[in-house]
Amino acid sequence: MDTPRPFAPRPEPLDEDRYGDDHPGDQHPGDEPDAVDDSVGRHRVMVPEPAPLTDHGPARVIAVANQKGGVGKTTSTINLGAALAEYGRRVLLVDFDPQGALSVGLGVQAHELETTIYNLLMERAAEIDEVIRPTTVEGMDLLPSNIDLSAAEVQLVTEVGREQALGRAIKPVLDRYDVILIDCQPSLGLLTINALACADSILIPLACEFFSLRGVALLMDTIDKVTQRLNPDLQILGILATMFDPRTLHTREVRQRVVEAFGDLVFDAVINRTVRFPETTVAGEPITTWAPTSNGAEAYRMLAREVLAR
Ligand SMILES: Nc1ncnc2c1ncn2[C@@H]1O[C@H](COP(=O)(O)OP(=O)(O)OP(=O)(O)O)[C@@H](O)[C@H]1O
Ligand SMILES: [Mg+2]
Repeated sequence: MDTPRPFAPRPEPLDEDRYGDDHPGDQHPGDEPDAVDDSVGRHRVMVPEPAPLTDHGPARVIAVANQKGGVGKTTSTINLGAALAEYGRRVLLVDFDPQGALSVGLGVQAHELETTIYNLLMERAAEIDEVIRPTTVEGMDLLPSNIDLSAAEVQLVTEVGREQALGRAIKPVLDRYDVILIDCQPSLGLLTINALACADSILIPLACEFFSLRGVALLMDTIDKVTQRLNPDLQILGILATMFDPRTLHTREVRQRVVEAFGDLVFDAVINRTVRFPETTVAGEPITTWAPTSNGAEAYRMLAREVLAR
């Protein structure tokens, strides 16, 4: 049921793929494991390569969430997941957006699937092993969704324990994975609350654009409420600056403001704006395999190292 793909030639290197083209603070293989100053003047220590694992689980559950649309939640879920898998981690990606963009981005024709996460949420007898699918990335699996999930949001409202439905669904596989990443939809509705209720932490992608900080207060408010009422252990794992354009002063200023507002919560890894990411959606694979030596692939590897170190 995977999308048949026309022959997709490997991409030609772009100028921006060269490491030399990026901004101060970027870190690359071969760099000395030493302190660096990043582009907003913070003194940072290099994050080392994570040690290999001999056994797996229990999983850390990370919700990738921001109610603002188009900030790179789905792109970050796929590529962080793939980078973690490259470091030998067993990863499960949960598509928790009825749009199914995560599934499509991994080459899965979500609308044709007979069983999706919807069945796990709504049917007690549904087996998670019948819904989980492997991806093209070794060590990374997918719990797909499609538009059926929007019905779950409506149907769950009247159920007892409606905020814990996702937590119940993934519980049987927590021991099998090292990291479970939940790609949330762009809203603070019941589906996102379900993700926050079962997550250990939240990763917030924030686009380096003029209005990016708008709405963050509402998101923080929601996190506070979830912490008080549903999940006292929920932490903010970090804030990821996305859509960064190193050539414009404006995006540098926005990142500076984000660092001023959130300090050490902001990851050193910065995701540049590049056509490579829309390309990967068409290719149905992560940037770490589509353009393995690109700046974008390196940035998500650095994010993976930071996530494992936090
Ligand atoms: N760093 C980037 N540079 C350029 N384009 C990007 C980048 N990251 C993501 N995109 C593109 O921007 C669009 C939105 O990205 P993505 O789907 O990851 O955001 P999202 O937050 O999941 O969106 P939604 O809120 O709709 O779920 C996609 O077309 C994606 O290919
Ligand atoms: Mg998305």
